[in-house]
Amino acid sequence: MKPELTVNIGKLKLKNPLLVASGTFGYGEEYADFIDLKKLGAIVSKTITLKPRKGNLPPRTCETPAGMLNSIGLENPGLEVFLEEKIPLLVRAGVPVIVSIASQDDPQEFIILAQKLDEIKEVAAIELNISCPNIKEKGKLIAQDPRETAALVKAVRKVTTKTLITKLSPNVTDITEIALAAESAGSDAVSLINTLIGMSIDVKTRRPRIASVVGGLSGPAIRPVALRMVWEVYQKIKIPIIGMGGIMDASSALEFFLAGASAISVGTANFINPGITIEILKGIETYLRQTKFTSIRDLTGSLKK
Ligand SMILES: Cc1cc2nc3c(=O)[nH]c(=O)nc-3n(C[C@H](O)[C@H](O)[C@H](O)COP(=O)(O)O)c2cc1C
Repeated sequence: MKPELTVNIGKLKLKNPLLVASGTFGYGEEYADFIDLKKLGAIVSKTITLKPRKGNLPPRTCETPAGMLNSIGLENPGLEVFLEEKIPLLVRAGVPVIVSIASQDDPQEFIILAQKLDEIKEVAAIELNISCPNIKEKGKLIAQDPRETAALVKAVRKVTTKTLITKLSPNVTDITEIALAAESAGSDAVSLINTLIGMSIDVKTRRPRIASVVGGLSGPAIRPVALRMVWEVYQKIKIPIIGMGGIMDASSALEFFLAGASAISVGTANFINPGITIEILKGIETYLRQTKFTSIRDLTGSLKK
């Protein structure tokens, strides 16, 4: 029997739990030559802001042991162009579109963005990126403060009935406090983790390898941290967790379900193998069959201790 792969995230019913992580899949179009986008559970768009952003100065990425650093700085065309040009591309993919949003200067921008997106029927859900480490203008991240997280989620919740996902930062002492704040303020799900702040230096030039000096670390290097955080959050909240951080293959994806994720997102691995998402999906199905799980939902949090 074919194992059941459908999962619910808020009001969203996904045919499978395999998502792509914001910022690593553009608006879907670059990957259409490599995979059948229809096979994905959903696409999470690159984060958009109200106004266009050029992003940070290059170099903006570099390789690190078992991972990469990036400091893209939320380069994006802004809401207007997104709605005119990118939404049609995303819709063509034929899967639910989760739109990731962030503010540039003022948290109020989240509310304006959510209000506008609420009117767009093609938008299946909104992900609040309160955890991007690559915006210099900001000091502390919203996701580093439970009160600010709760206030923002509450304000956005008032202006949209769409499924609301809050993306959390690992750059905190206790991520469960922030997850609880998001849940109590009305978030339908949480995504974790965004990148860990890191740094790399070229000793020959004595310069940092990325222009912004520090950036976001992603890839397999962060997987144990991400897994630990999913596990901790799973024990504290009732809303679904979308797990990510260094998922490279079916086995690493399965680790996240066992730790408590209801769905997973693939990020950096897409840069190494643009067809990896479909391979991971097949691997998950094979595992469920071999282990006689009838539904992926039964795997969530089923870690044996
Ligand atoms: C190049 C790059 C750009 C990213 N841009 C975004 C972004 O725009 N919004 C966001 O929420 N996360 C962004 N992220 C973080 C990823 O969505 C993901 O949370 C993180 O990379 C961990 O997953 P991974 O190790 O599978 O890449 C970006 C990551 C990378 C590598």
